[in-house]
Formats: sequence, C-alpha cells, structure tokens
Amino acid sequence: MEPFRIKAVEPIPFPTPDQRRTALANAGYNLFRVPARAITIDLLTDSGTNAMSAAQWSALLSGDESYAGATSFERFEAVVRHLTGYDEVIPVHQGRAAERILLGSLLRPGDISVSNTHFDTTRASVAATGATAIDLPVDTSTSTSFGGDIDLDALHALLDGQDGAHVRCVVLTVTNNAGGGQPVSMANVAGARALCNAFDVPLLLDASRFAENAYLITERDPDHAHYSPREVAHLTFSLADGCWASLKKDGVGNIGGMIALRDAELARRCRDQLIAVEGFPTYGGLAGRDLDALAQGLQEVTDPAYLRYRAQSTRWFGEQLLDAGLPVLLPTGCHAVYVDAAALLPHVPTHQLPATALANELYLAGAVRVSELGTLVFGRRDPGGGPDLPAPRELVRLALPRRVYTKSHLEYVVEVAAGVVAKAAEIPGYRIVEQADTLRHFSAVLAPALTPVA
Ligand SMILES: Cc1ncc(COP(=O)(O)O)c(C=O)c1O
Repeated sequence: MEPFRIKAVEPIPFPTPDQRRTALANAGYNLFRVPARAITIDLLTDSGTNAMSAAQWSALLSGDESYAGATSFERFEAVVRHLTGYDEVIPVHQGRAAERILLGSLLRPGDISVSNTHFDTTRASVAATGATAIDLPVDTSTSTSFGGDIDLDALHALLDGQDGAHVRCVVLTVTNNAGGGQPVSMANVAGARALCNAFDVPLLLDASRFAENAYLITERDPDHAHYSPREVAHLTFSLADGCWASLKKDGVGNIGGMIALRDAELARRCRDQLIAVEGFPTYGGLAGRDLDALAQGLQEVTDPAYLRYRAQSTRWFGEQLLDAGLPVLLPTGCHAVYVDAAALLPHVPTHQLPATALANELYLAGAVRVSELGTLVFGRRDPGGGPDLPAPRELVRLALPRRVYTKSHLEYVVEVAAGVVAKAAEIPGYRIVEQADTLRHFSAVLAPALTPVA
C-alpha cells in the first residue's frame, strides 16, 4: 500500500465522449496539445508531476531568494555533494538545460557521444553541438533483469575502432527511460568505467532516475540485495566522472535539474554558459525555495519503503494491464509501464504511427493520457524525402507521477485499456500534417490516416 496518507486533494475532470473527441481533434490528434482540463488520468509523464511531501512544502518557506550565495543553494549543494560525491554542483531549471550546457561544453562538431540510449532531449543536445549520438543498448532478448545496460562488447569495439578517437563521452541513462525504463546493473556501470579508463573517455550519468535504478539493483542483483538504495546510488555515482539530472523525476520536485561533476575545469566552462542562459551559479534558473524543496526531495527519494511501494505498485499495474490484454513489456521498471503498440495493432503500419494510434485511443476511451515512444518520437526523417525511418520499437508509455494516483485510479485505467483491447482491430493509424525539425512530437499536428488501413 501507499506508505503515505493524503493531506491535500485536487478534483479531476471527467470529459464526456463527445468532449474527448472534440478535444483530440482540436489538438491535432497530438496528446501534448490536449489541455489538462480535458484529462481524467494523466500518465503522460512522471516528470514534474510529483506530489511533494509536507516536509517539502515546509522547506519552501525557508527558501532564501538572494540573487547570489543564497543559503538555499548551500543546502542543495551539501545534499548533492553528499549523495554523489561530486564537488562541483550546478543547479539548472530542468534536465535539458543541464544537457545543453554540459554537452555544449564538452562536445565539438565531429565528436561522438555514446550511450545505452540517449533520451530524446539528450540526443537533441548532442546534435546541437554538431556531434553524433550513438546508442548501444544491450540486446534485451539476452538480458531481462538489466535491460537498461549498455552493450559493453559493442562499446569496446567502437572505442577500439576507427571512430574511437572521436568518442568524447560515454553516457549511461539510469534508468533507461527510452529503453523501457529498465535499470542499468552495477556490473555494467563498472564495465563501462573500465572501458572509459582504458580509452581515457569520461563516463557520465543521466541520473534523472538514480534512486529507482538503485532500488531495482537491490531487487534484481543478489550481490547488492543487502545494500540500501542510497548505498547503491553512492556506489553508482562513485564509478562515474559526473552526472546531470532532471530533478523533476527523482528530485521529487515540480521543476529543477542539476549538473554535478568532479572536473573543476569542465564545471567552470559550464558555469560560464549557465550565466548566459540560466542565471547566476547559485540559483541556475530556479527560485531559492525550489532548491530547498529539491534538497528535501533528494533525501526522501531513497527511502526504501517509498521505493518498494513504487516498484511494487508499478509491477501490479503492469500485471493488470497484461491481464486486460495489452502487450506489456516485462519486467516493469519503476516509473512507467511500457506497452508494445505494434504487437496490439499489427494492422497499423509503422508510417501510420501505431504507438500514437494506441495512445489516442486510450484518450478517446476514457480521457487517459499516455505518451507515445515510437516513430513520432524516435523515428528519423528520411533526408531523401521518403517515408520516415521507423523507431526500433513502437512503445506507448504509461508513466506514473510520484505519489499522485491511488490504486483505484489505476484500476480505472485498466478498465479503459480493456475496452481499447476489445476494439483493437478497428483502431486507425495517423499521418503527420505538420512537424518541427527537432523534438517534433511536442508540437506535431496529425490527422487520422487517409488511406484505409490494409
Ligand atoms: C532520462 C531523461 N533525461 C533527460 C530528460 C529531460 O529532462 P527535463 O524534462 O527536465 O528537461 C528526461 C525527461 O523526461 C529524461 O527522462
């Protein structure tokens, strides 16, 4: 059960079927464009959607809003240093600002960043520097417990091959959000560390879900079963040279991010950029009160009782959806349940966006909002003007905001999903009408596919 009780509540909307159809059409069939007032259960993201604790709300009141040298920063810095062991702590307003600043300080045109999987915003930040992002996820058919691992053999081959000299950083995204929310094992972090030592390349963590990764290691790796999640997090950070994080996830905040590094010279370059785009280094685009709430959140998030509930409730939700007939990816991680839309909708071809089709149908059926992690997000536009190059998988993600929804909310989602499964064969595909050059899924305008689905 939830290891907390609820002190403040917020009503949720119940739009009618007609209102849902209108809202989706007005939004260009893109759930990012649907207003929150037309959503009943919002599983779009676990990012910034967390419910803060009473201790976090009270920490807000001790916020020091001094422009420079605020005590809120000192408290935040102390918590991050203690957690990560990195001396250089730089707050930013959210994860992508951290990526833009850190990768912008590290990468030059022609460089390579290699990762288990770059998240979409990370990939965009790599591309903005003129460098190339290469993903080397482990083959999940051979590794089910730690499906977030990087393929160490492929990493070795890359570092040792003709492109090796261009590799400027190795990035481990923990947990691997774009790769099904699966954890990265301690052995894999250690293996990547050894390769980075051998080839003199820095190892960085995208630590946005560091606590969930640490908990899943204690659950799935008998060698770490007796460690606390915080001890595992310490060990993970100790093997890397630095990290960035969106603190809208395991910071249990509504806004915030950070860069934390060992390398003082790299940190100096990051701070130079930070001042130009985010703000003075002791607030980095945040209010002092945000830093206090995040400092408290970063301490709460490794509570074993909270993490056990988080992992168990997500597993329960995944099992229920599976029983309802959705092809759920197993094992589930902590922050989301991922569904293979291509398996449910084999009649929708990739270029008609099966993951978008499933996501939109869940909205139409019950005002449940989820996100597509398929060709709309990860597909590549064909430079020759042909059909998009498809994403490796057509996933739909049902992300779970931290401490927000109860079991009965999730039971409602399961009922809605069962209804969608029952009419899966009739679900139409979509086509893209308008799109931006990067991160198109946030703003694209879509329409139901013109051609009847074969
Ligand atoms: C793994 C990962 N890295 C980076 C980001 C970007 O963080 P933000 O949304 O705070 O900019 C996200 C956001 O979802 C993420 O999941």
